[in-house]
Amino acid sequence: MGFPKRRMRRLRSSDAMRKLVRQAVVTINDLVYPLFVRSGKGLKEPIKSMDGCFHLSPDLMAAEAATVASLGIPAVLLFGLPDTKDEQGSAAWAEDGVVQQATRRIKDSCPELVVITDLCLCAYTTTGHCGVVKQGRVDNDATCELLAKTALSHAQAGADVIAPSDMMDGRVGYIRRCLEENGFHNTAIMSYAAKYASAFYGPFRDAADSAPQFGDRRGYQMDPANSNQAMQEIELDIEEGADIVMVKPALCFLDIIHRAKTRFDCPVAAYFVSGEYMMINAAAQAGLLDKEAAMMEALTCIKRAGADIIITYFAKEAAKSLGA
Ligand code: PBG
Repeated sequence: MGFPKRRMRRLRSSDAMRKLVRQAVVTINDLVYPLFVRSGKGLKEPIKSMDGCFHLSPDLMAAEAATVASLGIPAVLLFGLPDTKDEQGSAAWAEDGVVQQATRRIKDSCPELVVITDLCLCAYTTTGHCGVVKQGRVDNDATCELLAKTALSHAQAGADVIAPSDMMDGRVGYIRRCLEENGFHNTAIMSYAAKYASAFYGPFRDAADSAPQFGDRRGYQMDPANSNQAMQEIELDIEEGADIVMVKPALCFLDIIHRAKTRFDCPVAAYFVSGEYMMINAAAQAGLLDKEAAMMEALTCIKRAGADIIITYFAKEAAKSLGA
């Protein structure tokens, strides 16, 4: 049935009409806000590479969590910057590590807020790699042991969800087993299942002081040219016990989000990463685009592609834009 019986503009004729037929709608419930924790007292330092983001000390986390919760955002994702680094990344599993301290503070003051902890060694190792390096390569299985140990320390501090972002093979299984053996049956796992070796992590590596000191991450993170492998990665993580699977980054990888959502039944998260965030901020600052409109369009398109959960540094701004 063609023109003029079908005129597509009829359903675009007013704001109310457009609302009536709208498919993808981002809600505050979909958002996760990342936070960077660093040791100290009363420390709130702007992160140079990421507009509007701060390094916060654990004692300021309760207030920050309260702000996030008051906007209706259901979850935060914690990243830690340790005082000391070593070859193994041992500060990652310290009982009084920065992430562990921040988790305790948040769960004490704001128990309803979901605390997700990023689990990786790259900010903790002197090499800046996501695991232990042996003979110039990241040793997969040795790293999995350390990740499981770290996951347990996060769970003991009260984390609701552990989010491994290292891309070692089999790590979800190691973590799930370790949590079960220690009685943490209800601690969930959100795996960075399809995580690509992306240039869009640039601003974050500065923020987390986690750039690799030699080489790059292409030996463990995925090649952006591949999508079938992403399905294999996700399938393996679900088999090993992941409760939520993530695709990262988001904007260049909307096809992967869509395939994942179509193929798997568990919730799919998308990480709208630092470089994507700063592209919009930088363009807005240069007067090239309307920041709020670009932000909402990007978030809506990530949702339309199939994301159930969107991790974004825009979470607070987006919540306000959505009426919080
Ligand atoms: C750690 C990690 C990274 C990001 C999240 N967790 C960086 C990396 O893999 O190099 C990137 C987040 C962002 O860019 O916003 N492995």
